[in-house]
Amino acid sequence: MRMYDIIEKKKRGISLSKAEIEYFVRGATDGSIPDYQISALMMAIFFKGMDPEETYELTMAMAASGDMLDLSAIEGIKVDKHSTGGVGDKTTFVIAPMIAALGLPFAKMSGRGLGHTGGTIDKLEAFPGFRTSISETKFFDNVARHKISVVGQTKNLAPCDKKLYALRDATATVDQISLIASSIMSKKLASGADAIVLDVKVGSGAFMKTKEEARKLAETMVNIGNAAGRKVTAVLTDMDEPLGYAVGNTLEVIEAIDALRGEGPKDLMEVVYALGCQLALLSGVAHTRDEALEKLNRVIDDGSAYDKFCEFIRIQNGNPEDVPRMRELLHVSDVEEIFAESDGYVSKINAEMIGHASMVLGGGRAAKEDSIDLNVGVVLHKKVGDSIISGESIATIYGNDPKKVMVAKEEVLSAYSFTKNKVDRPAKILEIIGER
Ligand code: URA
Repeated sequence: MRMYDIIEKKKRGISLSKAEIEYFVRGATDGSIPDYQISALMMAIFFKGMDPEETYELTMAMAASGDMLDLSAIEGIKVDKHSTGGVGDKTTFVIAPMIAALGLPFAKMSGRGLGHTGGTIDKLEAFPGFRTSISETKFFDNVARHKISVVGQTKNLAPCDKKLYALRDATATVDQISLIASSIMSKKLASGADAIVLDVKVGSGAFMKTKEEARKLAETMVNIGNAAGRKVTAVLTDMDEPLGYAVGNTLEVIEAIDALRGEGPKDLMEVVYALGCQLALLSGVAHTRDEALEKLNRVIDDGSAYDKFCEFIRIQNGNPEDVPRMRELLHVSDVEEIFAESDGYVSKINAEMIGHASMVLGGGRAAKEDSIDLNVGVVLHKKVGDSIISGESIATIYGNDPKKVMVAKEEVLSAYSFTKNKVDRPAKILEIIGER
């Protein structure tokens, strides 16, 4: 078999066989296929696409390119949740302990943030001492005994995806549905969960800008997961404005802790309940949406989800006493308000611009190797549909560098659009794909 012939075949729009895909994945992983040939194939796939069988075979080969976690020794249906990435998305911190408090083992491997979107692993590091890298034995033990663990992706989890993603990023071939679906699902399948809920974000702050594109991606991922023997549901959620009010690592953790205390923003809780509900249904812990909601509400009301979060921080080396005093751990030298210049209503908040403002403050990475400031970020006070009065604060900037704060302030103000007429609040849950 020759890589040249595989590229030629895809260039002509002919489907690749399982053997050809496996040959490619093996060579991309062990370095025997050069970057220029891998990149050429990515571009051919970008233009000619892949059919469902090819997409499935690519995903399976990528998942098997490194370690495949076998969680079967842990009792119960192991669950996982994945977001395609957005701005202000702190849902994992709320859902994971809620689900664990229901007795379901929640096992998640997560990533760091890149560009305008944040990453769960960075946010967890807001807790001094918290370890996002623990041994496999400890990960298994935490999931089995405490029903919860969230760790960084191990080096050998779908290594082929690491190689392909870096080349796609450099060759403008990220935004192709089969490539995104196989990239995400290879990591999910290798992480070992039996039931997976995918939060597919749609809008200005997301990869998928339209509902149609997001639906296609969601269907592709659900089909791959089901064909691989996993239970998968996807929820399409709005990411046209940031989720909740806080954007920035520690600020988002503070908002998630408020949510676990029953004081979460309405839009965040809508997404949390929709995803939690699907996890409860997939795992069989509830049989109807009403029953699932009743159970999820109970773990918030009786404090068991909050207690589970404290337990999670403790078992991964953090100090649970930091949970109630997270606000005191925020260290910023510059806090600036942004004031409304006239009366009216908020009609739009460009999520990508808000995410970018947080990145400019130092809260996100432009390149993978950049270090970040966990303290900085933006807290919005007004969301789409809210009324505003001239002179009112619409957002607060938290920074540690006056020059960066000035740039972020401009960007946050330009992310907002206003109107004189009343505006409806946007729906957060757009569609559910593969509900059982
Ligand atoms: N997230 C991934 O893990 N892979 C992609 O290709 C896009 C988003």
